Amino acid sequence: MYRPTLRPLHNPIRGQIRAFFAGFGFFANRLYSFAYVRFAKNRPGFEIIEFAPQSGLCNGLILITGASSGVGEALARLLSEEGFSLLLTGRDENRLKSVAKLCRAEWLPLDLAHSLAPLLSWIREKKPGLVINNAGFALYGPAIAHPLSSEMDILEVNAAAAIEISIEAARTLQSNRMPGVILNVSSSAGELPIPSMAVYAAAKACLTSFSKSFDSEMSPYGIRVLASILGPVATPFAHRASSGRYTQTPSWKVISPERAAQKIWEQILKRKAVSAIDFRTRAFLLAAKLLPRPLLEWILQKNLARRYNCRSCQK
Ligand SMILES: NC(=O)c1ccc[n+]([C@@H]2O[C@H](COP(=O)([O-])OP(=O)(O)OC[C@H]3O[C@@H](n4cnc5c(N)ncnc54)[C@H](OP(=O)(O)O)[C@@H]3O)[C@@H](O)[C@H]2O)c1
Repeated sequence: MYRPTLRPLHNPIRGQIRAFFAGFGFFANRLYSFAYVRFAKNRPGFEIIEFAPQSGLCNGLILITGASSGVGEALARLLSEEGFSLLLTGRDENRLKSVAKLCRAEWLPLDLAHSLAPLLSWIREKKPGLVINNAGFALYGPAIAHPLSSEMDILEVNAAAAIEISIEAARTLQSNRMPGVILNVSSSAGELPIPSMAVYAAAKACLTSFSKSFDSEMSPYGIRVLASILGPVATPFAHRASSGRYTQTPSWKVISPERAAQKIWEQILKRKAVSAIDFRTRAFLLAAKLLPRPLLEWILQKNLARRYNCRSCQK
């Protein structure tokens, strides 16, 4: 005779056994890590490298361009403290060397406006899981006041080189089936009409726009392309852009390079596509949308003119 039997869909005893072993595995793992760290600490021949586990980066190798000063240098210090291996680039060989020594990093001196090939072949060979395109510079003053070649170099370093590096890094990661992050350091200048910084603003607008579209193309492969929108940061940037007439110092309007680096790292951890990293920059960009265009241009022009005319600038 046919007798229907009732079988529970979920076996509570088996579930408990599984939970017990899962919990045991977790604690066994923590215990092992703890014991290993206690054993290896301060012993010759052992080095404890802790990659920020929440970073989700598939290898501990990071490329930072423009790491010889300012935000790039602060990023290099921060990420070397997190235990990552770094390749740093810049033009100033001595400065780059001393930052690299401090961060126990590899370094490659090159001018991104003219010689990109060695860096691209390094990317193909080493496959960095995180690339930070940070190198950049500007020249204050009307575009017609500077030699055309210098203006084109602004476009080359801030936009073209960063785009080439991004594409090469993404292609390398994708063909090796590796996830990764490319972060492009952009500027609030790219979101505004900025008389006296026209080419720089155009280059950063190009970089932000490229990052947004390229992120949509690459995210199905687990590769994210992020853009960080920086406002004023107290680095040698303004001093260089004004040919030494103006120095930006930390104030309520200007953040420190260390804070900028911390915010960029947080953006990378959150994989936020585009982020104006500071609330002051966000507030200013919002206000700029509400202001009438002539008034906005007048404010920006006046602010910039103060820097390159050296009327009230600090030396
Ligand atoms: N500071 C700001 O107020 C501000 C605001 C918005 C956005 N940003 C952006 O933030 C990024 C970092 O700038 P920062 O403020 O840290 O300025 P910074 O202190 O002047 O640093 C710029 C870095 O870029 C490198 N670089 C410049 N031209 C290069 C070239 N042709 N080839 C290779 N490397 C080059 C510099 O290397 P060398 O020193 O060796 O020449 C330096 O390491 C830039 O992309 C900048 O546009 C800055």
